[in-house]
Amino acid sequence: MPPNATTDLVTDHEDINALMDRLDPALEAGDPEAALRQLDVLWARLGVHIRSEHLLTFEALREARPSGSDVSEGELEETHLRLREDHDLFMRELSAVAKLLKEHRGINEDAPMPAGMTDHVREHLDRVLRVLDTHTGVEEQRGYPWREKWLSPEKQEMIREQMRYQLDNVPARFALEAGSEEG
Ligand SMILES: [Fe+2]
Ligand SMILES: [Fe+2]
Repeated sequence: MPPNATTDLVTDHEDINALMDRLDPALEAGDPEAALRQLDVLWARLGVHIRSEHLLTFEALREARPSGSDVSEGELEETHLRLREDHDLFMRELSAVAKLLKEHRGINEDAPMPAGMTDHVREHLDRVLRVLDTHTGVEEQRGYPWREKWLSPEKQEMIREQMRYQLDNVPARFALEAGSEEG
């Protein structure tokens, strides 16, 4: 399949999973600075991804759903509501992790995280991971195919360009490669 808005988002899911994994070595080492750097990258990339889904895609699908579609308006709304709730959970849990790390740094500067704190951080991340797989499954198996069926190629390309523009304008330090150099 040639690259399009869907393959971009699917690739982005893979990148986001990779960024979640990259938090692990920092947590193993109890290194709050490294964890914050990785979290920063993850936050920025996930933010672009979620904005693209909310602002560009959900509304476009609402407008484009054919009246005779076997997907009812209720099913579409319910799916989007659930995805939105997941997105809110991701951002809430990641922001709780950032708060813990920053509080620790404020008090202890570079001192390693105590094991109890690392466990606490992992609990927040586990809440994200428990939902993430199902979430991307719903998007890739339902939401994105709806988009390919209902939206004109021009509209899909416009959405793709807007997301690419945002990704290209994410500061260099948030690029996936920058994350790997730091980590
Ligand atoms: Fe999503
Ligand atoms: Fe997604």
